[in-house]
Amino acid sequence: MTEKKKVLAICGSTKKASLNLSLINALAEITKEQIHTEIFTGTCSLPHFNPELDNDTPPQAVVDFRNQLNEADGVLICTPEYAMGVPGTLKNAIDWTVSSAEFYRKPVALITASTLGHKGHQALMETLKIIGSNITDDTHLVISAIKTKVTYDNKIIDTETYSSVTKLMNAFEALLNNDRKLNII
Ligand SMILES: Cc1cc2nc3c(=O)[nH]c(=O)nc-3n(C[C@H](O)[C@H](O)[C@H](O)COP(=O)(O)O)c2cc1C
Repeated sequence: MTEKKKVLAICGSTKKASLNLSLINALAEITKEQIHTEIFTGTCSLPHFNPELDNDTPPQAVVDFRNQLNEADGVLICTPEYAMGVPGTLKNAIDWTVSSAEFYRKPVALITASTLGHKGHQALMETLKIIGSNITDDTHLVISAIKTKVTYDNKIIDTETYSSVTKLMNAFEALLNNDRKLNII
């Protein structure tokens, strides 16, 4: 039996009642036979990114985040769009990985689940590409009108959305299981 792949899930929303967090929970449940999903809980504990603190002894919260990324076979990001861009806490977390390169060649799935979402998604795709993430055309997706598609108790209630996210997770799993194949787009 092949070992389950380890995925670190990062939610771009810091709300306790978050549809993106619900989506992560739903995806973790759907893929639980193949993937062990751990949800990163430290985005709010990361200090504001400052290149002067990004030295040989970075803040402990940063060390912990980088370790969790290194231990993961892949990263799943589910995020809303804020003010047509990427939520600041999520961008801040990613900025802490630019010099240390934890995302380099790392299989990544990105879902922007929002009211609209395309502009924030596009910006985050640019960031993920420049830091060398292994993300493919099949492992990123925008889900607009998220409030009509996912519930706060972790249910995907729209059949088209269910089909899109399961397709995406299948592609992500393939990427996780074939990590020598580099799919930078
Ligand atoms: C400060 C703020 C800005 C927002 N800006 C946008 C936006 O630009 N585009 C969009 O699609 N939704 C925007 N929204 C709405 C979010 O998409 C919506 O609240 C979504 O459910 C948030 O995801 P969450 O439930 O995981 O927190 C914004 C919400 C907040 C709180």
